[in-house]
Amino acid sequence: MTDTAFRMRTVAAGDDPADSFGLFSRDAVYDPYPFYQRLREREPVHWSERAGAWLITRYQDVFDLQGRADLSVDRTETLWSYLPRAGRERFSSVVAHYTRWLLYRDDAYHDRLKALLMRALTPRAVELLRPRIERRVTELLDGLDGREQFDAYLDFAARLPVLVMIDLLGLPSADESLIRHWSDRNSNFLFQPVTPDFEAMGAEQLANLDAQEDYFLPLIRARRERPGADLISAMVQAEVDGERLTDLEVFANCNMMAVAGGGTSRSAISLALLALQRFPDQLAKLVATPGLINLAAEEFLRFEAPTQRGIRTARADFTLGDKHIRTGEVLHVMIGAANRDPAMFADPHCLDLVRNPNRHTTLGHGVHYCLGANLARMELRLAVGGFVKRHPRYRIATDEIVYMDRTASRRLTALPVSVDGR
Ligand code: HEM
Repeated sequence: MTDTAFRMRTVAAGDDPADSFGLFSRDAVYDPYPFYQRLREREPVHWSERAGAWLITRYQDVFDLQGRADLSVDRTETLWSYLPRAGRERFSSVVAHYTRWLLYRDDAYHDRLKALLMRALTPRAVELLRPRIERRVTELLDGLDGREQFDAYLDFAARLPVLVMIDLLGLPSADESLIRHWSDRNSNFLFQPVTPDFEAMGAEQLANLDAQEDYFLPLIRARRERPGADLISAMVQAEVDGERLTDLEVFANCNMMAVAGGGTSRSAISLALLALQRFPDQLAKLVATPGLINLAAEEFLRFEAPTQRGIRTARADFTLGDKHIRTGEVLHVMIGAANRDPAMFADPHCLDLVRNPNRHTTLGHGVHYCLGANLARMELRLAVGGFVKRHPRYRIATDEIVYMDRTASRRLTALPVSVDGR
């Protein structure tokens, strides 16, 4: 495998443990992997003052922690830390909203609500969505026909998951830009830029969530009256712990689906298209053997995990490596680092589409295993498979790839490509 890196910047990891070896630098936004390596080699269980959390970078530790149901995923404290300290009660509705997300719930409430949503996303249910997703991929690619250059991120990768979520929630296709805008702003808050403006982001959150509430609440009430076959209808009819979900709970989980399913999948698709350009021999392999796409999708997920860390809070003291973790302390489970750990993956920095087995940590496992894993895989396979079939000779049409300003997730801002016009 060759990494032909079009102008891949060389990044040198920092050397200061007090600064988490440079993990929160702009260089790490561009390429976090040398920083993860330094952390893993020097201090695989590292306390970061900046994050106020332990950073865990070895594969085995990440895998074990992801599967532990005794750790909490509650984000209340983390969310408060994303908001201005002065007059913080102004933002209590923001924190209350996110604490209604299944993603941030523990124990019985989590398990019941998850079981319910899982029914809509079993492998069989997702297989039934295949023709719809295929149609969406074809429509998007058809819409780009005749253009010799376009943005494979904004015009393709970022559109598909929003359209799929719109189909799943039963929303009008015309609301695509609105849903995407909200999901982008919310994920910017949840994933936090490297140098956040807490006051501006808090104000934006208040306005955003108000506008979303105005959009979703009437829709939710209408589905209570007249349920359909969509996921909102499933949520309003469901009972969790013997009670119906409130309108605000249904709204929160609609928002969660749009953020958790929209942002991650677009990163997976666009980063896969970028990775194939860095490893042209792998692109040639996929073009020659399209049937490799299922295996290839796992390698895309390993190589560039859209969500780079999971967050847990200790509910009891325990020991990890040579460190003592105390009740209430936060752990950042570094998915992106685990996926490049040479103790688990041979040549971890190489894209190898036939890597097998490929036990990456990108979708988690155990009690918090990604609810949308089947859907994410289907979207990734159909999107990248469909794109490469339509444009086998696509090329990156920029000298510099720009990533969004954050280290907790990997997200491009654009992916200009040139293709042979048809
Ligand atoms: C490539 C795309 C995706 C990636 C990389 C991804 C990643 C993840 C990860 C790592 C987790 C586990 C978090 C943890 O252990 O704390 C997770 C959970 C979750 N994901 Fe995804 N996800 C993707 C797509 C989706 C989609 C399409 C949906 C919605 C349909 C979705 C909804 C969720 C939800 C609701 C959870 C919480 C599950 C729980 O706590 O039990 N994800 N995802």
